[in-house]
Parts: sequence; C-alpha cells; structure tokens
Amino acid sequence: MNFNSQPTNTNRKPKTFNNPERFIEGWYWVLPSRKLRVGEVKPVTVLGRKLAIYRGKDKRAVTVDAYCPHMGAHLAEGKVEGNELRCFFHHWKFDAEGICVDIPCMEEPLPMKLKTWPTAEKYGLIWIWTGEIPQQPLPFVPELEEKECHIAFATPFVMNCHPNIVAINAIDAQHFNTVHKLPLEIIFEKHELHHNAIIFSNITRLIDDSFIIKFIRRFYKNAVTYSICYWYGATSIVTLGPDFFHLHIMFAMRLIAGGKSEGQILLIIKKRKGFFGWLCNRILLRLARFVGKYFLKGDTKIVKTIQFNLKTPIKEDQSIMQFINHLERQKPLMWGTWNLARSRDEEPRENREKWRDDLVND
Ligand code: FES
Ligand SMILES: [Fe+2]
Repeated sequence: MNFNSQPTNTNRKPKTFNNPERFIEGWYWVLPSRKLRVGEVKPVTVLGRKLAIYRGKDKRAVTVDAYCPHMGAHLAEGKVEGNELRCFFHHWKFDAEGICVDIPCMEEPLPMKLKTWPTAEKYGLIWIWTGEIPQQPLPFVPELEEKECHIAFATPFVMNCHPNIVAINAIDAQHFNTVHKLPLEIIFEKHELHHNAIIFSNITRLIDDSFIIKFIRRFYKNAVTYSICYWYGATSIVTLGPDFFHLHIMFAMRLIAGGKSEGQILLIIKKRKGFFGWLCNRILLRLARFVGKYFLKGDTKIVKTIQFNLKTPIKEDQSIMQFINHLERQKPLMWGTWNLARSRDEEPRENREKWRDDLVND
C-alpha cells in the first residue's frame, strides 16, 4: 500500500454523480433481444420514461413514446402491421420513423409524427440512445471491438443504490483486499476512450516472492489483467483472466425510481471456431458465472446499505475521483423527462469543469 496516503478534503459536490434525478445522455439497455419477437409490441419504462417497443417484419426493433399523439392510448396495446404500428384505440398507424401513415376515417393522414428513439442491438440486448442523434457508439468490449463473441446472460438484478455507486465498486482498490481478500495490490491507470467512455486498467506487476504470487505470475506476461471500461457512467465492462483467456463481464445498468439500479449481467468471451470451440466457450461461460457471483457476493451487503459520501478521500480513492470527474463532464439529462438537466444553483460552466480534487491529476 502507499504509505504516503494523506486524507484530502473537497467541498465541491458533484452534480450528476449519484444524483437520483439525473443520468448521462447515452445508450441504455431496454430488453434482451430474445424477449421481443417479430410482430410483438411491449411496454417498457426506461429511466422514468414510458415507451413502447416493437419488432417489425424486417426484424428491426423500433422504440416510440408510449402514448398515441391522437388521444393518449398506450401504443403497446396496439398491433404491429408489417414494419408499422397501429394504435388499438382509433387505429391510427405510424411507420418506423413515427410518421402517421393512416387514419381510417380520413382520406389522408395528418402530417404528424410520433416520437421515436434511436434503437440498436448488440450482445443480445436492445439498446436505445436517450437523445436525438447518437453521438457515440454502443457500449463494446474494448479488446473485442470488431470481433464476434459468445455471450451468456446471468440473472438480472435490482440494487438498492445508484448505478454510479454500483459501478465504482469495481475500481475501489482498497476493498479488493478488505472485502474480497485479494492477496495483490491493484493500482489503476486511466485512459479516456472518448467523451463518454473511460478505462481503468491494473498496472501492478507481481513482485512478491510468495508461493501464491509466483503461481499467479505464470499466467501473466505483464500486470495481472483487470480492467474496467465505463460507458455513460452506467454500463461497466470488467475484463479479467489469464493471458490465454479473457473473460468480460458486462453490467448493463440504468437508474430506476428511488435512486436504485436495475441491470443485466452478461458474460462475454471471444468466439472460438468450430464445434469444439463452441463447446469450450459454453463450458467457460458456465464457470464464469461463479466469478460473477463471487464479485457480487461480498458487495451486495455494501450496496444494500451504503449512504455514499466520500468525505475523506485518500490516494487509494483516486480512481473513484477520476470516474466522478469523467462523469461530471458528460451531458446530464433529467430522469423521467430526459430534458437537459439544469440546476437553479448551477455554477458557471468554467467552474463546473474545474470540479477537481487535488488528488486528481487530469
Ligand atoms: S388514441 Fe391512438 S388512434 Fe386514437
Ligand atoms: Fe467488489
């Protein structure tokens, strides 16, 4: 451990981090792809906003605001016709761009548009962008950006705290030794992939000569692989494993009412060729479930009861501070309305961007 650790105080409070009324404009998971078949329409609530999602005969998922612009019927009560959606109530019909294409009692439909949201699918999940035009890509595993993957879903979860708090657990270096009894020191280096994604990678090389460290060292050319990539402060991808096999655990999360989190856990590994490759990956994914469970086991107690307040940050909390700074620079939206978040007491922009702690060197 670093014996030069000094407590440092900060009076500046983050505005978006751990705020139950805010989230970052970005891509968020909606449903597992397999839960929306061709011709189906379903109601969903994402980040407090009511939506309807359907899959047309072209297999494309389309997400629209839930309430019909005629009289407010819920469109998930409606019917998918080809690639279009017909409202149950007075049978107005909307195409995949939301344009009204049919009003049965009129010769011509009215020139009106139902709000649609950019929708895409990756890793067996349907995702939506919570703004007009996607500014950044869908969350991806950095080392598998263009590669094909094998995926397994673990049990979905609800946690009693904000997604940001669940997320930072993975870069809380001290707790690996205290909660998870890890016999190694973890030191992170950060790298911003872009405005909305940041990676923290372990850079500690193994030097201890104890039996266990010598054993672990055989599996790593450099530092022990442990890295986390955060997207929009909500979806985290943990990468770990020996050099010959990397496992990626995605925690796709979103904020629900009461400042809680709901999420999907996906286990992702690089696709192996042939039947034996497939079989090998299936077995590895099975085993990986235990890793996921192990990670969550000790932490569940914490996230159930924590009232996060980093009053006394020390050097070992640096990655958490860096995560907060990265988050504070992104575009905040209001939970429920998805409007741009503005606080009455908002500081001028320059001040906001200077939300820094002495410990943080970015
Ligand atoms: S409420 Fe949808 S068509 Fe009337
Ligand atoms: Fe943990």
